[in-house]
Amino acid sequence: MRNIIIDCDPGHDDVLAIMTAFANRDRFNILGITTVAGNQTLEKVTNNILKVQDHLGFAYPVSMGYDSPICKPLDVQPAAHGEMGLDGPEIADAVSKPSGKHAIEFIKECLEKVDKLTMVCIGPLTNMGLFLKTYPQLKNKIEEIVIMGGSYNLGNVRVKAEFNIYHDPEAARIVFNSALPMTMAGLEVCYSGAINFDEIDRLNEKNGKATKLAKEILEFYKGWAEKRGWTQTAIFDMTTIIYLLHPEYFDLKMMNVDVELSGVYTQGMTVCEEISSYSRINNPVKVLMAVKDRFAFLNVFYEALNKLDQECK
Ligand code: BDR
Ligand code: CA
Repeated sequence: MRNIIIDCDPGHDDVLAIMTAFANRDRFNILGITTVAGNQTLEKVTNNILKVQDHLGFAYPVSMGYDSPICKPLDVQPAAHGEMGLDGPEIADAVSKPSGKHAIEFIKECLEKVDKLTMVCIGPLTNMGLFLKTYPQLKNKIEEIVIMGGSYNLGNVRVKAEFNIYHDPEAARIVFNSALPMTMAGLEVCYSGAINFDEIDRLNEKNGKATKLAKEILEFYKGWAEKRGWTQTAIFDMTTIIYLLHPEYFDLKMMNVDVELSGVYTQGMTVCEEISSYSRINNPVKVLMAVKDRFAFLNVFYEALNKLDQECK
């Protein structure tokens, strides 16, 4: 059983990642959820996960973190996630409230109580970076940091930069230079596990609450891909959870990775270097390269929805 905290900016794909984790509570001891500004403002993304939890009947503590990146101004993503950050599904406003503890205090208290903890970071790395700067004495209890972010070649918000890293490159740089075991689910592996639009159509919302919610989420989320003429959409953040459940489903490679802080085209790029005697960077990271079998990968998601449909009435 792995202790995890999910640090996120929900966000359509964040919610689907979190639902997949909820369904696998026999594998994860979910200590809580921490939120960070990214896809939308801190208030909006926090409210989104609270209302999803209320809707499905979960009550994990939700602790709010930083409301903007370390050095850059906040630059939210309405084009992908809408004005509220989770546009599409019609679910009731949240009744539950955040914990009242700052995210980094929550992470600190968890680390003081457990022997080992995995941080699953699926938003900008502001909370994680500032946690490491504030409480460096606790970092060795972090078993692994698994992130959705970066890429080894592609970009989505800039030619070579992915949103979570580009949004707060300074924070990302602290995390990549922490010398902690790290796994990076970048754009390429996420695209290799993308769901086809006709597979979204086939999700049967009569199966229950979770499938209905997931389908509504994906109906909205696919709009971004549709505008580009694509016929499938990656569920980026979910890749981290599926990796933790089934590392054998992935091709991966150890690479040295650092983050570019400036550069006309390259700010926020994860610079991935083959490890060799020429290496200039010394941050070995497990880089997920591709999903081996897209059907097996997506089946973990479908099974999670089935489980939640039975549980959440
Ligand atoms: C990442 O950016 C966000 O919009 C998504 O939630 C995901 O974490 C993909 O680049
Ligand atoms: Ca996210």
